[in-house]
Amino acid sequence: MFTSLSLLIVCSVAFTQANSNNKTVLPVPFTLYYESLCPYSERFILNQLVPTYDDKDFAGLLANMDLVPYGHVYDPDFSKYKYTCQHGVPECEGNKLHGCAIKYIEDKSTLLHYFSCLINITQSVPILSYPVNECKNIVPDDKMLQISKCYNSTEGWDLFNKHGEATKNFFGSNRFYVPYVSFNRTKNENISVIGRKNFKKALCIENGVKHTTCS
Ligand SMILES: *[C@@H]1O[C@H](CO)[C@@H](O)[C@H](O)[C@H]1NC(C)=O
Ligand SMILES: *[C@@H]1O[C@H](CO)[C@@H](O)[C@H](O)[C@H]1NC(C)=O
Ligand SMILES: *[C@@H]1O[C@H](CO)[C@@H](O)[C@H](O)[C@H]1NC(C)=O
Ligand SMILES: *[C@@H]1O[C@H](CO)[C@@H](O)[C@H](O)[C@H]1NC(C)=O
Ligand SMILES: *[C@@H]1O[C@H](CO)[C@@H](O)[C@H](O)[C@H]1NC(C)=O
Repeated sequence: MFTSLSLLIVCSVAFTQANSNNKTVLPVPFTLYYESLCPYSERFILNQLVPTYDDKDFAGLLANMDLVPYGHVYDPDFSKYKYTCQHGVPECEGNKLHGCAIKYIEDKSTLLHYFSCLINITQSVPILSYPVNECKNIVPDDKMLQISKCYNSTEGWDLFNKHGEATKNFFGSNRFYVPYVSFNRTKNENISVIGRKNFKKALCIENGVKHTTCS
């Protein structure tokens, strides 16, 4: 009881200090490599990433976040926009939609809630195509218009390619799994495993932050 209380105090002091100096303390960069229809990726976003962002004690630690929707794509031909995604055509559509949303929705909270709404659908029903027309009410109309244009043009595939390059540059020709949680743009199996199970804990470790939920 006493211990957890004192940890909380230490934590809030740390945050206050950062603010009172008016310095933006940039958190360690966080990158998530994932696939739109991989059940483990879906669960990570829904059950770890979104609740962590919704926790005001942790949102700041995600200020330096990159989402990379791509994962396992077989024999991609970037120049011809030809791809075979691990979970089929709907996954390619989903990755493309996510890529456009990441580009056009600057507000991370809106972006993540848009994704959790989409995932709520793809998790619960077998889908023949990605639900690109759902959850539009979460996104401001002007952003949704940009996303639609992006999705229905080569811009969507160019972003898809960009995430493909990022994934390839990061993993090289090594085998990898998604979701892959990376900090500081480096590969570290240990922290990725911790992060997948207990994302808040990984954020605390990487940023040197103490918090009751991390102990
Ligand atoms: C922080 O910035 C705000 C607005 O720019 C200013 O009013 C405030 O005095 C600053 N605080 C410190 C501790 O520098
Ligand atoms: C998921 O869907 C159910 C029913 O369709 C709804 O009650 C729930 O609020 C949704 N959750 C999210 C995170 O959108
Ligand atoms: C792309 O165009 C189709 C057909 O016009 C439309 O149904 C769909 O809503 C558009 N995609 C998005 C993400 O808006
Ligand atoms: C992040 O990476 C940089 C450059 O490789 C290194 O100097 C720094 O110590 C790393 N920070 C953390 C928190 O891992
Ligand atoms: C991961 O953990 C293992 C076992 O604890 C350790 O031997 C290894 O050095 C760690 N790797 C990294 C990159 O921290």
